[in-house]
Amino acid sequence: MVAVALVGLGDIGRGAHLPALLRSPDVRLVAVADPVAAHREAVEALVGADVVVGASLDDALGAGPDGVVLATPPWATPELAIAALRAGRFVLAEKPVATSVAAAAVYSALTDAERGRLQIGLTYRHDPALARLKTWIDDGVLGGPLLVRAHVYDEPRVAGDAEHLARMRRTLEHGTPVVHEGAHVFDWLAHLLGPGALTVDDAWSLRTDPGLPAPNLTGARLRHPGGHQVLVEFGWLTDALPRCELTFLGPRGLATLDGSTFALRLATAAGEETAEFPGDRTTRDFDLQVARFAALVRGAADRPDPDLAAGLAALALAEQVATQGVTA
Ligand SMILES: NC(=O)c1ccc[n+]([C@@H]2O[C@H](COP(=O)([O-])OP(=O)(O)OC[C@H]3O[C@@H](n4cnc5c(N)ncnc54)[C@H](O)[C@@H]3O)[C@@H](O)[C@H]2O)c1
Repeated sequence: MVAVALVGLGDIGRGAHLPALLRSPDVRLVAVADPVAAHREAVEALVGADVVVGASLDDALGAGPDGVVLATPPWATPELAIAALRAGRFVLAEKPVATSVAAAAVYSALTDAERGRLQIGLTYRHDPALARLKTWIDDGVLGGPLLVRAHVYDEPRVAGDAEHLARMRRTLEHGTPVVHEGAHVFDWLAHLLGPGALTVDDAWSLRTDPGLPAPNLTGARLRHPGGHQVLVEFGWLTDALPRCELTFLGPRGLATLDGSTFALRLATAAGEETAEFPGDRTTRDFDLQVARFAALVRGAADRPDPDLAAGLAALALAEQVATQGVTA
């Protein structure tokens, strides 16, 4: 078992990383850390008495972990990741890798060996639904070229949940939804559509409430060198949201990926089929992610997957969409 510390005990730290680390047969949790006392108190009863509960990365490193999971906001993650890597540890860092390409420039000082110890939390890349979808695309089941539509709407404004609204406002201060959600979606598209970078044709954004720190709805039209046309939309913080869904339409078929569950549907002239995978998407993919991270730490995997380059590529594309959308 590899010794792991979890730093950042907010929504995703407590809700997904901690349960996945506690469930994992590959991992022994040795420390958790967060500067917010209430966040530490919320996990104290869940972790064993032998787990160090600290306020900082340094406290967590003091417990001697082989690896550190950073479930921290993207404005804090780069500095923490670099410090943990420099301390000789393996790091699984949440996406996005930074809030901008300029802020991500600090990663360029990493040595190759340090980069080789940094896995990025592009969690859903590991889902079997994406592997199945890739097979359909690569085997020509849909034909081509494809019209891809990604409608990613997953954070409604919840009346009465002041904590959620405050967190989402804080996140918006550091970029429109494409910077945060695009990290995942552009990574999936790079993985699914294959070689060649997506380029942005045009982009848009809309702020539905003038009190919000940034536009909460945004989207773009992109082109893939394989001839595919891609339409993406990202949205948060309206009382109701459109369906969260990705569709891949080719001359021979239509594949639909439910953006929340990752249930898949395929429609072709031969009929319809569905593919659903065991368990809920979060449990399934955080478990797979921890298993990959543990394999990297043990030396059973020779490189991080996904790596920093994947995180930087998704961030650069998201930033292009954000910039063009705001100035359009
Ligand atoms: N992979 C996924 O599916 C997924 C899902 C949701 C969120 N995320 C990402 O996870 C990150 C965190 O999101 P969240 O919603 O949990 O945010 P959050 O604000 O709820 O939690 C972040 C936590 O990090 C702590 N923190 C801040 N600075 C710190 C520091 N220097 N040292 C230690 N802890 C520090 C905060 O106190 C807070 O508890 C974001 O980058 C977000 O995009 C990923």
